[in-house]
Amino acid sequence: MSHHWENCLLQSWGVKTQLTALAGEFDLNFKAEAADGSRFLLKVMRPGCDVGLVDMQCQALEHIHSSSQLVSIPSVVPSKAKRSFETLIDEVGNVRLVWVLSFLEGVDYAGFTPKSPHLISQLGTSIANLHLALEGFQHKSLQRDFKWNLTQAAWINDSLTFITDPLRRELLTSVMADYHEQLDIIRALPSFATHNDINDYNLLVSASLDDEPKISGIVDFGDMCSSPRVCDLAIAGAYIVLDHTQPEQALCSLIAAYHAVLPLDDDEIHLIYPLLRSRLAVSVVNSTIEALDKPDDPYVVISQGPAWRFLENSSIVHSLVTARLRVACGLPVTKSAARVGRYLSQEVRGNCAAIIGMALDKAPCRTLSVEGCSVPQNPFELTAWEALTLGDDTAAASGISLGYYNEPRLIYTNNAFRLNSWKASNRRTVHLGVDIFAPTATQICAPLDGVVTVIENRLESLDYGGMVIIKHKTPHGDSFYSLYGHLNPAVCQSLRQGQELKAGEVFAALGTPEQNGGWAPHLHLQLAMGIEGLGSDWPGVADPDERDFWNALCPNPAALLNLPDEKVGYVSLNESVVLQQRQNDFGANLKLSYTKPVMLLRGWRHYLFDQWGRPYLDAYNNVPHIGHANPRLQARISEQLKRLNTNTRYLHPAQSALARKLTSKMPEQLSVCFFVNSGSEANELALRLARAYTGGKDMVTLDHGYHGNTTGAIDISAYKFNAPGGVGKPDWVWLMDIPDVYGGRFRQPEADCAHLYSQQVDDAIKGINQVGGKLAGFIAETFPSVGGQVIPPKGYLQSVYRKIRAAGGLCIADEVQTSLGRLGEYYFAFQQQEVVPDIVVLGKPIGNGHPIGAVVTTREIADSFAAGPEFFSTFGGSTLSCVVAKEVLDIVDDEALQANALMIGKQALEGLNMLKEKHAIIGDVRGMGLFIGVDFVTHQSHRKPAPDVATYVVNRLRDYRIFAGLEGPNNNVLKIRPPLTIEADDIAMLLETLDLILSETAISDCRSD
Ligand SMILES: Cc1ncc(COP(=O)(O)O)c(C=O)c1O
Repeated sequence: MSHHWENCLLQSWGVKTQLTALAGEFDLNFKAEAADGSRFLLKVMRPGCDVGLVDMQCQALEHIHSSSQLVSIPSVVPSKAKRSFETLIDEVGNVRLVWVLSFLEGVDYAGFTPKSPHLISQLGTSIANLHLALEGFQHKSLQRDFKWNLTQAAWINDSLTFITDPLRRELLTSVMADYHEQLDIIRALPSFATHNDINDYNLLVSASLDDEPKISGIVDFGDMCSSPRVCDLAIAGAYIVLDHTQPEQALCSLIAAYHAVLPLDDDEIHLIYPLLRSRLAVSVVNSTIEALDKPDDPYVVISQGPAWRFLENSSIVHSLVTARLRVACGLPVTKSAARVGRYLSQEVRGNCAAIIGMALDKAPCRTLSVEGCSVPQNPFELTAWEALTLGDDTAAASGISLGYYNEPRLIYTNNAFRLNSWKASNRRTVHLGVDIFAPTATQICAPLDGVVTVIENRLESLDYGGMVIIKHKTPHGDSFYSLYGHLNPAVCQSLRQGQELKAGEVFAALGTPEQNGGWAPHLHLQLAMGIEGLGSDWPGVADPDERDFWNALCPNPAALLNLPDEKVGYVSLNESVVLQQRQNDFGANLKLSYTKPVMLLRGWRHYLFDQWGRPYLDAYNNVPHIGHANPRLQARISEQLKRLNTNTRYLHPAQSALARKLTSKMPEQLSVCFFVNSGSEANELALRLARAYTGGKDMVTLDHGYHGNTTGAIDISAYKFNAPGGVGKPDWVWLMDIPDVYGGRFRQPEADCAHLYSQQVDDAIKGINQVGGKLAGFIAETFPSVGGQVIPPKGYLQSVYRKIRAAGGLCIADEVQTSLGRLGEYYFAFQQQEVVPDIVVLGKPIGNGHPIGAVVTTREIADSFAAGPEFFSTFGGSTLSCVVAKEVLDIVDDEALQANALMIGKQALEGLNMLKEKHAIIGDVRGMGLFIGVDFVTHQSHRKPAPDVATYVVNRLRDYRIFAGLEGPNNNVLKIRPPLTIEADDIAMLLETLDLILSETAISDCRSD
């Protein structure tokens, strides 16, 4: 068949191509490729196809092209006879209309992931531009009776009987009832030429690893008709929401972007949701009818699945969707919201009855913000005591204080606040009311006249206890509502629904902690512009990512307290200002992680929180070895600071306590300690020790190693001195390859690799001798970390150490990254290599963030160093540092963190290896315990490093609020190196997220098999 059409294309269009058949239900579609690489789409219409329809499409495409450059659509390729389409005969003698279009690159939106807000916004913009470009387009075929024209959707009323499930039939009946309710408004809207089928197979997306995905084409204009533009938009929306994890937000992205180009009015926004549901209803009814002809085709039912799932999702409510869309478009949340807002500001503020019977303008505000307070200590579990004593430290003499509106707080720790099932999932944190802390039994008065609409007793712990909602009316007749939580339910019992309240009338009293959900006595006062769709279950706390919407629906209630909004409105930190200040105050090579930097204000174990309380899983930072904000360590530090912090020139038992704890973990001969401030300083000292002992200067070290930021440490850090702008290799430094058996010079047989890599010591020593130098020693990260999380082959260090020692040098193990139980099976990495170094360097995790480094060596080496001048480091070995490090080491033991590293590390490595089976871009998974590397390559078969993939993955992990790092000479190794407290649930989250990311289109597109 292809051959026939190839000939037709040659004869009628003069192009010689090869055809590949594409999917098409009734018509034939072919991808046509010419020898010069140009590509076309050949369309062979079904026999009997209406000429007008093809002509309409050709003319529409030409019209769009001539009026706008902003929309990516195919162009019609005219035939040799300069016609847009030809009438040709197929192989069996049928007359067919045949036309040729330019070929657009991209993948179907349906199969593309991720369907990000940015991509959906682009679609909204594209549709608006398409509508602008189609303005003025006329064609007689646009006026047609057509089952897909949304203004004519009523045809399905007579076909609902085909839906055999009574619940589903009822559901569609109600969808159509809503549709009929809107029909007059729909029909009153002006009609235009519309695409009318912007579904997820008629959209093309181009993916890229280093840029946002783009809508690269809107195709298939075969369903064009004349209809209100909002119908076209609702059709696109109907496909955008399907199986989207956040359908309402996705719809907002689409509509807001459209509105920014082509503003929608109140009616149009109101119509979007009912029209969208009507389109889905038409779709399921239509496919159910078509399925009657194909009873054995399971695809029909499967393809209906997402539409039914959306239609049956009762948590999505028309009024709230419309309110969200309005806010996303920058309009007041309801039609009356702007008027109510003005009324509250201009007429209510200053004229309300005092809610607790007294003016509050002098009352202090107490912050419970992420930034401003340390409650709860554990952001995953507010204790009963913390709830009871909330903000006690700010209580004024009067016992009255206020809590901020729009303040992000970590105190909402119930599962009900989580937005997903993982512990590190996003959660609702932003307070939507104002708190008035006051004694139990304080009487509560109505600030304005109103009618009681809800009286409830919420019994759950940390809920409201007694709660009342009052409806108010403005003089213009607009309604708004106020909510009062944490009341004494017994007093509320005397109220009844519908009861009228006068301003100043006492209607409730504050509950005791037993009555108010367990909180310190206070009133939660919240305002709402409307409660259609909200009912009585208003969220008192919002998702920080949805602040705009909730702030609009439940604005600051300060006016009801006769207070200016600023008094009780939380003022967030401005991250751009913090960034600007940093840029002004520091050098440009003080780098920030991520192009869009993160500002973190709280930590807990292996979790971090930004100022809005969004949690991040910390799978990267090794300094908080025993976890961020460890309470035992914090208590020990503050205890010690109350007593003394001085230096090593005085006797104190803390120094020896730490030294003994450390050396108890070491081989016997490593018995003498030096304490310094950092890993860099420790490596400096190690160099001095080696030189003092050997009398030599030359050092052998590994390529791409890192040992610190001081002059001496940089000199032995190829990662820095060889970096662009680096100082270059000093002549006393001799480099060897990283012993990387996956991507390095020697890969196999693995048994020989230790020998092959260690042989490079011989070359280094030969070089030293040739230039008349003298060897001081060998220094390496025992498992190279910045070198790509490499585990050297067994026997490697044994061989290296033997050769170095034979040449008179000392062997230094930089264990800054690999010590203190991180490896699970071993406390130090040198144990895995079955060697005993002469000097061990420790840093980072030993102080869990407190600056301390340590050097441990033999008595003999220490003595040779002691022959020189005094060794003194002002802060090294301070009382506090010693107490801190000893406590860290004790906590590792007491909390069995090494065993945790072993167990969780095994889970992570097993899971990553399973991902490697599935994703060919994972070349190697390596590591030990919680020291893990994932080596990304363009394909497993050729091990070519894929740094762009690794960068993409790290950034996408950050989008999912997971921190990991990038390492390796090629920057292609994902570094997973979390605090040792990490749990199975977190690794499961990491693995599932990685799997999702690795399945994204940008990655599958870049694979080279
Ligand atoms: C292996 C190794 N050694 C030494 C250092 C230097 O430690 P510090 O930054 O505490 O001076 C680092 C820091 O990243 C390191 O990773």
